[in-house]
Amino acid sequence: MQAEAKSQASGSARTAHRRNYLMCKPTYYDVNYSINPWMNPDKPTSAGLAVSQWQRLHDTLVGLGHEVELIDPEPGLPDMVFAANGATVVDGRALVARFRYGQRADEATYYLKWLQEHGYPEARQAEYTGEGEGDFLLVGDVILAGSGFRTDVRAHAEAAEFFGRTVVGLTLVDPHFYHLDTALAVLGDDDIMYNPRAFSPESLEVLEERYPDAILAAEADAAVFGLNAVSDGRNVILPQEAVGLMAQLRERGYEPIGADMSELLKAGGASKCCVLELRTKESG
Ligand code: ARG
Repeated sequence: MQAEAKSQASGSARTAHRRNYLMCKPTYYDVNYSINPWMNPDKPTSAGLAVSQWQRLHDTLVGLGHEVELIDPEPGLPDMVFAANGATVVDGRALVARFRYGQRADEATYYLKWLQEHGYPEARQAEYTGEGEGDFLLVGDVILAGSGFRTDVRAHAEAAEFFGRTVVGLTLVDPHFYHLDTALAVLGDDDIMYNPRAFSPESLEVLEERYPDAILAAEADAAVFGLNAVSDGRNVILPQEAVGLMAQLRERGYEPIGADMSELLKAGGASKCCVLELRTKESG
């Protein structure tokens, strides 16, 4: 991968790190309830199309050299494809989600069972409402944690104690960007991109101070879920319509990879929502 580090405009090519991911095929994909502004149960959906878009995302990650494990989808849980919400896994410790809405509550049982049986015997469900990597994002040593729509602020303290990490709380204010991973993406150890309009003024100050060099997303790119991106430190997979962000990423030495996520967007999710990172002790 390093070999094709064609000289970037900025001169600094980035290094990809091999990741372990968990994904869930959208076999039972549907939008038959509405728990975010993107979901309209009257609009037709296609599980077949969702599966083919998901499969391409899966194959892209595998093609980049990442290890992708799979959890079986369950009938009656159409949002289970959004594996990022199932848990937060850092330092080999897994804290399973407690979903805000009843329609998704049972997903937690399946994610808990899968994690306990696949290398995380001490995985447990969080006590407070929190939606996994939808709202908890590891950046370097700290965990950025969203609240405002889904995750209870008390879950931030719970995560800080569980992981023994500093948790920085951020308040989301726009219902279209209801999870932190719809408003902010982690690109590298200390590098992020975000939608400044999605945060409260206080949270925006925190972000500006911590990440003065962050990429700021234009409204048009945020609106097509451009911030719902998966990065390995070099390759960044994001919805293909986010052309402005792709140019900004290229300028910084990243390799943006556009993905067609149109069908999953009808449920209010895209690339990052479909991918839960499994971090062992060694991977940090
Ligand atoms: N329909 C799902 C919900 O509203 C979409 C979740 C998207 N996932 C994410 N990580 N943002 O809960």
